[in-house]
Amino acid sequence: MSRPRITTGTAITGAGVWHPEHILTNEELCVAFNEFVRRTNAAGAEPPLKESSPEFIEKASGIKRRYIVEKTGVLDPERMCPNVPDRRDDELSLQAEFAVNAIKRALAAAGRVGEEVDLVVCGTSMLQRAYPAMAIEIQHAIGARGLGFDLTLGCASATAAIQVATSSIQSGLANCAVVVSPELMSGHNNWRERDGHFLFGDAAVALVIERARPGSWEILSVRAMSKFSTNIRNNFGFLNRFDPSKQFAADKLFYQQGRRVYKDVIPMAARFIADHVQSHGIEPAEVARYWLHQANRNMNELISERILGRPATSAEAPVIIDTYGNTASAGAAIAFTEHNADLAEGSYGVLAAFGAGYSIGSLVMQRT
Ligand SMILES: CC(C)(COP(=O)(O)OP(=O)(O)OC[C@H]1O[C@@H](n2cnc3c(N)ncnc32)[C@H](O)[C@@H]1OP(=O)(O)O)[C@@H](O)C(=O)NCCC(=O)NCCS
Repeated sequence: MSRPRITTGTAITGAGVWHPEHILTNEELCVAFNEFVRRTNAAGAEPPLKESSPEFIEKASGIKRRYIVEKTGVLDPERMCPNVPDRRDDELSLQAEFAVNAIKRALAAAGRVGEEVDLVVCGTSMLQRAYPAMAIEIQHAIGARGLGFDLTLGCASATAAIQVATSSIQSGLANCAVVVSPELMSGHNNWRERDGHFLFGDAAVALVIERARPGSWEILSVRAMSKFSTNIRNNFGFLNRFDPSKQFAADKLFYQQGRRVYKDVIPMAARFIADHVQSHGIEPAEVARYWLHQANRNMNELISERILGRPATSAEAPVIIDTYGNTASAGAAIAFTEHNADLAEGSYGVLAAFGAGYSIGSLVMQRT
């Protein structure tokens, strides 16, 4: 007896990516970083700092370049942080601008306009401010109705936001939801830290979620889990000024135990994704495409090999980290947006994210 088809009845009906125009290569980044190292060592750093190299970056992470909101500030060894003037309260905030740019493209792809949207979930690893919620400003900017709220869950923020949007449509709370991940990673990247100065890039991605219809990506099911770990961490927060001696310390930016993350997350994510696929009565090799979180190219190769029992082809597990860097929760959805159009009706696809928390989220989808 064939098993009944499981489905949420909802779908991704449109997707859009937007990134800033400035490209920052590994070579440019290392020239500035190594000048910072020389100056710091000349000033008597103890122990002396070590230089970085483009060869290491590409080999260790798969990253060749990334997009960035502003690069002269990052390339200034005295500053090493983007140089972006603050905006007035009556101007669209920078993060909302990223979001709106991606949403416009996603709505156009779905054949919708902002006025038809009745739920905006801003799922992102970082928020520019505490309140008003970024999603409400975005909702206002696109002319949407209904509700908007922010959701943060590290690199699994977008998949969690999709889960909320899907449930909202299933329950009748919303008809046309937008999930948006405006990731301004340059704001919490530590550009002075050799182990990770190269990791991140800036980009935004948006997905329109509605009832499934022909030509969409039907979401058969969504799964998520979390398991506490302190191996990826950022202690920035509104209590930082309680202790001015540590207010601007390095732990108020992204930091991680990269090797431990590797060891923990590879088996956890591979098992989670394979179990999710098999819960639909399909085998991992029957999935035409895996849009995986883009934190590290080598890590993704190992995860997809564990899922499939053999190395994945570049068509099965597309890579975008080479040109975007790690864009946190946006990465898997960017891979989806740029690499789904060629798949035929009936094809299965899996979008999966994993990261800080730890947190994992995955979607099993089928092209309608
Ligand atoms: C961060 C990461 C790219 C580092 O790669 P790695 O292969 O683990 O590198 P290691 O930190 O073990 O360092 C290996 C060597 O390279 C050196 N190295 C580190 N950074 C360097 C740099 N920028 N340039 C040159 N050499 C460097 C180290 O000193 C070390 O040298 P040693 O063996 O002589 O001690 C990798 O661990 C990673 O991506 N982990 C998972 C990250 C992740 O998914 N995070 C989630 C974020 S959302």
